[in-house]
Amino acid sequence: MRRPCLLAIESSCDETAAAVIADNGQILSSVIASQQELHAEFGGVVPEIASRAHVGRILPTIKSALTQAKVSPSDLSAVAVTSEPGLVGSLLVGLTAAKTLAMSLNIPLVTVNHIDAHIYACGLGRSGDVYPCVGFVVSGGHTNLYDCCSPTDLKMIGGTTDDAAGEAFDKAARILELGYPGGPAIEHAATNGSDTLNLPRAWLKGTNDFSFSGLKTALMRLVDGGEITSAEDAAASFQSALVNVLVRKTVAVAKKHRVNHVLLVGGVASNRFLRRRLIEASPVEVLIPDPVLCTDNAAMIAACGYYRMQNRGAGGLYIDVYPSL
Ligand code: KG4
Ligand code: ZN
Repeated sequence: MRRPCLLAIESSCDETAAAVIADNGQILSSVIASQQELHAEFGGVVPEIASRAHVGRILPTIKSALTQAKVSPSDLSAVAVTSEPGLVGSLLVGLTAAKTLAMSLNIPLVTVNHIDAHIYACGLGRSGDVYPCVGFVVSGGHTNLYDCCSPTDLKMIGGTTDDAAGEAFDKAARILELGYPGGPAIEHAATNGSDTLNLPRAWLKGTNDFSFSGLKTALMRLVDGGEITSAEDAAASFQSALVNVLVRKTVAVAKKHRVNHVLLVGGVASNRFLRRRLIEASPVEVLIPDPVLCTDNAAMIAACGYYRMQNRGAGGLYIDVYPSL
């Protein structure tokens, strides 16, 4: 008899990932093959390099997820895969592998929205209910606030009007020549600096939306004008301005909506300064996944796929990818 477990595949950007979870939400395995070293010299993800690397890594990654979970393909009851948003070539590699597995094993295939999936990372391995909550996805491509009534009822209530928080971190690191990926580089430099620059904050009053391009431009002007004497102080000032806006707007939403928790997820959620500040300011408990579940992984795709399947049922093999929302 098949053990009820689900295999998930993630390949939307520069991580090839596969995971197996049991139907009680327990992570049996989560394997991530990072491509960071391939893109580092370009200072950002190169789509063509990313899709080629996914092609080479997808089968070994799936195989090691199954081996680590001690399950064979015939034990799988379903396959979940990211179908949106992301880089088209990268998404297609994961979707094609997932379709092939689902067809050959004759099991259901469920597609998942990558941004929604970040929210489910908080529930993994946790016994208590996290709903109702505010879900805050801060990643390289998104800065989205969600009103989450239940695992199958998420409503987006705010987003960025220009750069995402992670994108802003990456651009600021490039401006300050601190390296790639920018978020960890800025965080590291900021630990040795102080907020001396008092950079601008865009509040976009009366909305739950964000804007970070003005902050990036202000930093660029100071660098171009030769006014930066310490990259560490500049990193600390940038981080402070950006986190100040993220925290204040999220706290306002948490106060307005009757929620039990704020879920902080996505790659930028691994930033310790942001974690600390949000925990200090939030009126309700803040739940943050382990750093390895904050950045892209397939365990969150599995958890999201599990609920999607209950809610919507499986999709068909004609499914396509949707690179942007
Ligand atoms: O969620 P993620 O792994 O991929 C996307 O779905 O975008 O997020 C990647 C983003 C990058 O922009 C990276 O610079 C940022 O998360 N990031 C951080 C930190 N670690 C990763 N930003 C700030 N501080 C960090 N420690
Ligand atoms: Zn992501």
